[in-house]
Amino acid sequence: MPNVDMSVTLAGVRLKNPVVVASGTFGFGREYGQFYGLGELGGICAKGLTLHPREGNPAPRIAETPMGILNSVGLQNPGVDAFIEEELPFLRQFDTKVIANISGNTPEEYGIMCEKLAGAGVDLIEVNISCPNVKAGGLAYGTRPELAAEVTKVAKAHAGPVPVMVKLSPNVTDVTEIAKAAAGAGADALSLINTIRGMRIDVNTRRPILKMNTGGLSGPAVLPVAVRMVWEAACAVPGLPILGMGGVSKGEDAAQMMLAGASAVAVGTALFADPYAPLKVRDELAALAGRQGLARVSELTGGVKPW
Ligand code: SIN
Repeated sequence: MPNVDMSVTLAGVRLKNPVVVASGTFGFGREYGQFYGLGELGGICAKGLTLHPREGNPAPRIAETPMGILNSVGLQNPGVDAFIEEELPFLRQFDTKVIANISGNTPEEYGIMCEKLAGAGVDLIEVNISCPNVKAGGLAYGTRPELAAEVTKVAKAHAGPVPVMVKLSPNVTDVTEIAKAAAGAGADALSLINTIRGMRIDVNTRRPILKMNTGGLSGPAVLPVAVRMVWEAACAVPGLPILGMGGVSKGEDAAQMMLAGASAVAVGTALFADPYAPLKVRDELAALAGRQGLARVSELTGGVKPW
């Protein structure tokens, strides 16, 4: 193993390595915990929570695509209280950081959830204003700077000492507008990108494959879009930490994200093909940093040399 310091800091939270698992791809960790100790991970971002339990959207709600998947899950989850009572104690057994991802129908709902989660002692709150699969909240907040700022302010006002990270959508003309709005409203970090809206159609039935007609695209196909948007956001709000995600499945992908400006990286869809993907990304990233003679992996952050 190369002698590289893999620890990084994200919004004041120290991660033992920069590889986090992305919300919605790891459940609450129980299934993956059968493969390896969850303390191997830099952090775990739990499945997105809402104030009340949700069953999600009707099936089919997952469809494969070349180099990715479309999902229209619709925030299926047991609700924030069940997470705090049943899932958080499980996650707390492991020496890793716990990130709660929240979606609200109203700014007030974000505030209530932040208060509950801060009281329960999560390490970071990811404020999801970018889910493309729900009618209320979600993208409605993530595509309008003034609403993104309002949700961020409410979250910050109720999160106490717990840092607030705002999850941005790629389904916008200019991600820097939303990044600046969240930063101006006090966000401690940004995470990006959520999924890109997409559609598949069965040419024989002429029906969309997904029952909701459209869904969000993730996986290796979106990596270049994600790297570009991380770079744009990092340039727009210099100094604000970024958790980069979108199609990361190799150490080199993670290095691209960090060079573009991310302090840490989330692995998501790659987990469906290989539960060990985050550990491989971590080890490949360490090897890459070692080959480049870096003492600390954090030296990659923002290191891109644009032409
Ligand atoms: C979903 O549950 O629909 C996915 C969550 C998201 O894209 O934010």
